[in-house]
Formats: sequence, structure tokens, C-alpha cells
Amino acid sequence: MTSMMNEEKKYNIPAVITDEERDAFISETMDNLNHYVNPALVKWRKSGDARSIEWTGRDYLLIDLAGNEYIDCLGGYGVFNFGHLHPTIVNAVKSQLDRMGISSQELLNPHMGRFAKLLSQITPGDLQYTFFCNSGAEASEAAIKFAMLASGKHGMIVMEMGYHGKTLGALSATFRDVYRKPFEPLLEGFIPVPFNDIDALANAVTDEIGSIMMEPVQGEGGIVVPDDDYLPKVRQLCDDKKLLLVFDEVQSGMGRTGKNFACENWNVAPDIMGLAKALGGGVMPVGCCTATPEVWKFLEPNPFIHSNTLGGNPLSCAAGIAAIEVLVTENIAERAADTGAYFKSEFEKVMADYPELIVAVRGIGLMIGVEFKEKDKSVTAAQELFNHHVLTAHTLNNPKVIRIEPPLTIPKEACDDVIKRFRTVLDGLK
Ligand SMILES: Cc1ncc(COP(=O)(O)O)c(C=O)c1O
Repeated sequence: MTSMMNEEKKYNIPAVITDEERDAFISETMDNLNHYVNPALVKWRKSGDARSIEWTGRDYLLIDLAGNEYIDCLGGYGVFNFGHLHPTIVNAVKSQLDRMGISSQELLNPHMGRFAKLLSQITPGDLQYTFFCNSGAEASEAAIKFAMLASGKHGMIVMEMGYHGKTLGALSATFRDVYRKPFEPLLEGFIPVPFNDIDALANAVTDEIGSIMMEPVQGEGGIVVPDDDYLPKVRQLCDDKKLLLVFDEVQSGMGRTGKNFACENWNVAPDIMGLAKALGGGVMPVGCCTATPEVWKFLEPNPFIHSNTLGGNPLSCAAGIAAIEVLVTENIAERAADTGAYFKSEFEKVMADYPELIVAVRGIGLMIGVEFKEKDKSVTAAQELFNHHVLTAHTLNNPKVIRIEPPLTIPKEACDDVIKRFRTVLDGLK
């Protein structure tokens, strides 16, 4: 298998390996995943039956070992905003790797400081200080702990259908019994209310509540965009009641909704914000929790109160800094707004033609959800789209919805291609 990894073959696999070598590699991969990772998941994955092994990617295309190209409308669940293997980001990581990969933790880390400064420049409002981690769930953990410390209260209002990750703290703020029940009792003090309902939110505020946490646009809840007046009213409520507002932009951030951060669509800034997924440019795992100077005072008595070893490592920072450069210099958010409006309108036309299958098309920018009447149909549609070489998946808290979250660089011609294949799939589902 070492021969598989040699540089010459790495990017030309379909052209240079024999059919026997490819079959052997596929069998070995299936065997390893089945025996050493998660056999139930391998069976569930659409790629399992097809024995399709990811190999490389280019912009909005994912390419498997056999050389098949998939239009990536899953985007790694919101990771590949800048396309696969964006050269600016790949080169930044490669050149950093020659010098230093992981931080010493004692000498000053210049990359972390620079990355945090850039984040403070592109994030909304007074967000200024950043804690770095490696995933979305860790970003949520930090956000929850920071909100508790800064407000002095453990009570937090969260949203029904919200999703913040599956570690125990993040899960306490996440809404779906199937993920929560086996671990209950979870953390106390999390009060769920319906998203996009300002009265329910206001009514849930008590003396025990110190903060409100939500995704500005719900992702795993089925791609739910709030009414235009909702987030401004939430901000006002927080100001009136002296509550901290926490936005989880793990999925909606970094240009996805047509602005750098989704909350900017409504000119609302949080006190604390969690980011991950696309923050590492689709090349490195990077997460963070960023907050205002007022919030950050909680670190003064004990700067070790929340820490980790690998967050903010030089490789991740190099990726994140390059990702911000791409976000800004390539007008990624504007492109998402433009292509997203077009793509969504094309899905709406499809909905009009298939009312017996599709009940809603929602979204903003390139965060689009297509809701089916029945869950079975959405699952089959995602499977059939895979067979037609379009990647997508249902949303975790609302399986009737399939997500359309391609790289924000996707051209409109590729969107047309997806729509054409989607119509073919729907014809087969009637
Ligand atoms: C809004 C949101 N927050 C947090 C998470 C958790 O991120 P991760 O899977 O990196 O832990 C997700 C993942 O889908 C998410 O969509």
C-alpha cells in the first residue's frame, strides 16, 4: 500500500493504477472501515454500496478513486466554502509545515495572534478576542462556558431544532431526542424555545437565565431562515434584560449565507460567536470562539480556566489566515449571494413542478434546504442524487430536508446541471 502513497500517483490515481490495484485498495478500505471504524455507518453511507472512495477534489468537484466526478452539494456539511484544495490555502499550509506544525505552547505563537486579529477585523460588532480549538462542538463548549462565566449564570435559552454538536455540553444545547436521550440527564439550565418566535423567547427569560444561544440560520434543523425582524428583536431583548447573545455560526459563517457571517444579513452582532467547519479553508480542522472585551474579562482571574493543547496550532492558523484572505479577496460572500439566489429560484421551479414530492424550498445564499413531504423520499432522493453523481445529505435534526451547500465558488452552469439531475431523480420517485 505504500506504493499508493507515492507522490507521483497521488493525484493521477485513475490513470496510473491498474484495475486490480484499484479493486484491492477498495476492498482493503471497506474491510478496514468495517472491522476497525464503524460498520453500521459504512452500511448507511451512500458511498458504501457504490464502493466509491474519496480521492481528491477540485473546486466544486469531488473525485473518487475510479475518477468519477461528483458535484459537491454537501460541501462536507459546510466545510468546503472555498472549494476543494484551494491553492492559496493549500500552499499556506504546505509552507508552514516545513517550519513548524504544532505550537510549543510556551514560546509566543505569532500565527495565533495574527489569525485572531484578522478575525476581529472581519467579524461583526465588538468581537475582538478569540479562543482557538479544532471543531464545531469544541467551539460550542467554549461558547457555553464563556457565557456562563461572563454572565455569572448557568441558565441559557436555546432553540428547538438547534444543533451545536454532540459533546456533552454542546449536546445539552442541541435539540433532538435521538441524540440526547441515551445521555440524559444532560447539563441543567438549558431552556429550549421555538426558533423565530420572539414572544416565546421573551417569556422564557427568568432570573436564572444569563444568555441566549442560537444559530442565526438553523442548519441541521432543516435550513430555517428567521423573519427579518427576529434577530434584531433578539438583540434588543438581550440588551434590555442584560443577557449575553451567543451565535453559533459554525455552519452559517465564512460567506455561506451571502455575508461573511449570517447575522450580518440582519445587522445584528452577538457577544460571543462560535466558528468552525469552513474556518480552516477546507484544508485543516479549525474552530474558535470569539467574544467582546467585556465578555473576555472572565479570563482575568484565571487564564487557564478553559484551554486545550492543539487549538491555534501554526498549521491551522496558516489555513485560517489564508481562508480569510480568500474570503475577502475573492468576494466569496457576494458570489454566494448571487449564485444562491439563482440556485434557490431554480429549486423553487422544481418544487412547482413536483408538488406531490416537495413541500418547501428555503434558504439564504448557498445554504439551501429542500423539504420533502415524506422522510423516505428525501432519503431516497439523496441516494439517487449520489447515483447521479451529486452529493447531498439530509439535515440531522430534520431528515425530511436535504441540504444544498456546495462550495461558494460553484458556477451557475454546475447549478443547472444539478437541477437537471434532480429532475431526473424526482421523475423516478413519482
Ligand atoms: C451549527 C453547528 N454547530 C456545531 C456543530 C458541530 O460541529 P462539529 O461537527 O465540527 O463538532 C455543527 C455541525 O454540524 C453545526 O452545524
